[in-house]
Amino acid sequence: MSILKENPFRKDFPAAEQTINGKRLAYLDSAATTLKPKIVVDEMDQYYRLETANVHRGLYWLSENATTKFEATRDKIATLINSPDRRQVIFTKGTTESVNLVAQSYVRNFLSEGDEILLSQMEHHSNIVPWQIVAEEKKLTIKVIPINNEGEIIFDEYLKLLGPKVKMISVVFVSNALGTINPIKEMIQAAHKVGAKFFVDAAQAITHLKVDVQDLDADFLAFSGHKMFGPTGVGVLYGKEELLNQMPPYQGGGDMIDVVTFEKTTYNSLPHKFEAGTPAIAAVIGLGRAVDYINQVGIETIKKAEDELLDYGTKKLSSIPGLRIYGTAKNKASVISFGIDGLHPHDIATLIDKEGVAIRTGHHCAQPLMKFLCVPATCRASLSLYNNQADIDQLYAGILKVKSFFE
Ligand code: ALA
Repeated sequence: MSILKENPFRKDFPAAEQTINGKRLAYLDSAATTLKPKIVVDEMDQYYRLETANVHRGLYWLSENATTKFEATRDKIATLINSPDRRQVIFTKGTTESVNLVAQSYVRNFLSEGDEILLSQMEHHSNIVPWQIVAEEKKLTIKVIPINNEGEIIFDEYLKLLGPKVKMISVVFVSNALGTINPIKEMIQAAHKVGAKFFVDAAQAITHLKVDVQDLDADFLAFSGHKMFGPTGVGVLYGKEELLNQMPPYQGGGDMIDVVTFEKTTYNSLPHKFEAGTPAIAAVIGLGRAVDYINQVGIETIKKAEDELLDYGTKKLSSIPGLRIYGTAKNKASVISFGIDGLHPHDIATLIDKEGVAIRTGHHCAQPLMKFLCVPATCRASLSLYNNQADIDQLYAGILKVKSFFE
């Protein structure tokens, strides 16, 4: 079944079918955030309307109900990523906080002067800056894994960088700006041969691919709820149990403690040691429904649908004279970054918005990548399960209109 003409999933997303400023919406910015299926919105509405209570604290029905639903999400996530144990699933604010947590709690305490951290040329700022902050303080060296013109990691160069000083490597699974799917499993195998730990930024990967932490043998892995049909304000950090147990708390507060006295405090066990304060309860519960939705559709079905959209979109956009696609990796997810000769990406995005087309333009929080590409910015259309041929045709027609406007 082709989803290009008749997409059975589109009706699950209330925001997909709407008119904005008199134009049919073509939402093509799912790498920034995905639209939310009705079951996620309804579940959160139910919590706020009728089931509001704090978690892990009350002995009354509402609090126990909230705790049960909250903790059920942990189980669902553990199953989704094949975590050996539910306690290795830690709720954070999102991928960014997960990176900061590991930088501050692991790297700060277990790396020392002269140790090296490897990042790739295509990293998002959130997978650069947290490591830089700790590297500066601890006098660590950050080295960059180069990429080729297609936007793929140059594996031989990566292997050359893997010396005895490398203690942490953090690489994106699927690039937000290029769509490249990196060979993370092979990279982790090579990293472990030199004793380095590997952090996987799976923010984009989680809705496109099967992410299996045991198969990957990831030391740490992170993703955000809002890029997987869930709400903003919640994300996940997965870590190997022995590492998480060694790491000190990242933040202090309620829920992360065992016994508190003014003289000394002892800490709660995993996962609560890393979950200080009242969490994003409604968001976590909503995230559980997003996982239900992914399971209901099936990650293989999602991937197949997105591949079909990517293929159609790539062919359609490539036929436009003067349009250049950035990121042409052999193994690629449904992201099409592009530029047009003689046009500034911001002009394209602003004018195309008038045609109802929502794309992202800018550096995509990846300034070092833009520098490598020798562009200040790109336009980016990112496709998801709810898109269809009409969305891509609308983008295509919009680009032609913008081009004719400047000619
Ligand atoms: N990281 C998000 C993006 O790529 C915000 O748009």
